Amino acid sequence: MSPAVEEVRELPGESPENTEQLEMADNHPKACNFVKDFLGWYPGHRRKRAIDVGCGPGYFTKDVLSKIYNQVDMIDACPEEIFTAWANTDGISTIGKIKDVKMQDFVFPKEYKYNAIYMRWCIGYLSEEEQITWLKKAKMALDNPKGTRYGRKSPPPSFIFVLDNVDERVKRDEAVYRNQKVESRVYYEALWLKAGLIS
Ligand SMILES: C[S@@+](CC[C@H](N)C(=O)[O-])C[C@H]1O[C@@H](n2cnc3c(N)ncnc32)[C@H](O)[C@@H]1O
Repeated sequence: MSPAVEEVRELPGESPENTEQLEMADNHPKACNFVKDFLGWYPGHRRKRAIDVGCGPGYFTKDVLSKIYNQVDMIDACPEEIFTAWANTDGISTIGKIKDVKMQDFVFPKEYKYNAIYMRWCIGYLSEEEQITWLKKAKMALDNPKGTRYGRKSPPPSFIFVLDNVDERVKRDEAVYRNQKVESRVYYEALWLKAGLIS
């Protein structure tokens, strides 16, 4: 068990906030392993730069992304979360820019593109319309050859990744989770099509 998970487990009481953190702690190792396995099956993926969108306290970046990519940027709408993420990842050489900003307002860097844009338990805070607008913007920030059509059989070297359901929690699969809608894989495949990420 990672130190991050132990730290969250020590929280006392059963407030809604703590219950959410406990559930996230339970799911954290499973989600981390899923990403490690996924990247293992996908050697074509480049590992230069990634961004953790809605990074929260930064555990996902700390425990997985910072060990895989040469540079990981983090953004979150909440300044307190960004402060915690900064503290939790202090001293890790692969941490790049850290910024408190809503994903809807975020302007992607002009100087470089990303090989991966990760959103773990975050995209569900947006409406479907906002999600499509966000994905179209994010697509432009990916380091992929222009004009190429990507599909299941021709995956792009750089991608956008939603990790909402990999922990297999029923609650996350079907419900509204603290104002966050968690959708099915079918929903996200349709969304990816609408945003022009796959054809
Ligand atoms: C359930 S937490 C998940 C945190 C982190 N991704 C993780 O896996 O541990 C959701 C996070 O999304 C952030 N968030 C919510 N709406 C956002 C938005 N519009 N733009 C950026 N971050 C947002 C919240 O502040 C919170 O830190």
